Amino acid sequence: MINISILTVFEQLYDPFIHTSLVGRAQEKEIVHIDVQSFFSYIQPKERIDAPTFGPGAGMLIRPDVVQKAIEDKEAVYGKAFKIFFSPRGQKIDQRVFETIAAKTQECGHLMIIPARYEGMDARVEEEYADMVLSVGDFVIMGGDVPAMLLLEGVLRLLPEVVGKQESVARESFNGPFVDFPSYTEPLEWKEMRVPDVLRSGNHAAIEKWRTEHAVEKTVKDHFSWLRAQDLSLAEKKLAYEHMPSHYVALMHSDVLVGQERLPGVTSVTSLDIHDIARSAKTYGVKEYFLVTPLIDQQKIVQKLLHFWNQGVGAEYNQCRHNAIQLVDLVSTLDEVIACIEEKEGKKPLIIATSAQIGDTQQLISYSDQKTVWAHGRPVLMIFGTGQGLSPDVIKRCDYLLLPIAGFSPFNHLSVRSAVAIILDRWLGINPMFHSIPQGGPNGKKRN
Ligand SMILES: C[S@@+](CC[C@H](N)C(=O)[O-])C[C@H]1O[C@@H](n2cnc3c(N)ncnc32)[C@H](O)[C@@H]1O
Repeated sequence: MINISILTVFEQLYDPFIHTSLVGRAQEKEIVHIDVQSFFSYIQPKERIDAPTFGPGAGMLIRPDVVQKAIEDKEAVYGKAFKIFFSPRGQKIDQRVFETIAAKTQECGHLMIIPARYEGMDARVEEEYADMVLSVGDFVIMGGDVPAMLLLEGVLRLLPEVVGKQESVARESFNGPFVDFPSYTEPLEWKEMRVPDVLRSGNHAAIEKWRTEHAVEKTVKDHFSWLRAQDLSLAEKKLAYEHMPSHYVALMHSDVLVGQERLPGVTSVTSLDIHDIARSAKTYGVKEYFLVTPLIDQQKIVQKLLHFWNQGVGAEYNQCRHNAIQLVDLVSTLDEVIACIEEKEGKKPLIIATSAQIGDTQQLISYSDQKTVWAHGRPVLMIFGTGQGLSPDVIKRCDYLLLPIAGFSPFNHLSVRSAVAIILDRWLGINPMFHSIPQGGPNGKKRN
């Protein structure tokens, strides 16, 4: 049996929680034993469990010596525990955190949950004892007891035999890369909404296909930041990509500002921009890279280069480069770009302008606004300026303007090919997060 001890200021909060539903059943089935103990059990009459914070500022903290007594008492009974504290400054809880704690709990047989109250605990307690310090989100609530109950709900269902059907645990949201599919029950028709016929067809393959489609669609639409943080297989990447709107990139050599005076004008093409932007576009699944120049002489230079890589010696010489350069389409105007996309997709693209400067705040979007943009159900065209950047007139024509790329220095004069790479990565890039328990406590100084 697994022992779970909870050390708290308000033990009465846990009743009836620990005796109800699956948590209660897990205790009846003797899978777990939950022991809730008040910090007040560890002080003498008239002693306090809290004391004022040192330094200016209001607030009381739970005393470290009281927490020490409580921890030592429970470890003497149930053995060494895996210890969890809570703080808004802690590691944010997600399904991986529950999985880690479930595994650690089974390994050591004793999980200790230590929620705080008031302004929290003396900082030395976490430093000394915490295996994990967890946050339930970027906000502050009055105490750690609701987070503690949430943790129990999340971890207990992962322990063997707590939940009846293990399948219901295995197929749920955030267990794999995609969230759960929509489910329906009786009545068949409710408020003029009917349960999809396919789900009642008995055709298991068709049902599976329907469920996968809906799960992937919902994940891409509403949980893209989570999806892109997963370690996706090639097949999963392909599935997700098929549910994302098509993206296009245009590099503008007209409709740009030039010279120190920043006047409207045109710029010359550079072979580096053709190659490097094509390679970035290919990496991030961009459908086509439009090179926009109205100048005939410039077009001739580009055509020669494209011919070399698409049909000439280059196509054989470097297949990889050939694959990227094949995305390049030479056109004269932005209108031509829009027409090409509309012809391919059957819909006009939404246009996102990019700039090194913050423009009209009404148009501004950030690098986490995919949901807003993708909700339109239209292809997306990102346009990039050469010279001194896109002209204000062309930016006004666009639906959105992306926030300028910025680091922690005031300098942001990037080459356009760097800007394209960074923006494509921020908008469409995958960045898997690998969760692991901090070794030696949250700040690496754990001593016990
Ligand atoms: C009023 S809060 C203390 C907040 C602390 N002064 C801060 O700003 O980081 C008291 C206790 O509630 C719990 N708590 C509050 N917000 C939380 C959150 N977002 N996640 C986890 N625990 C939280 C923690 O146990 C915390 O020590």
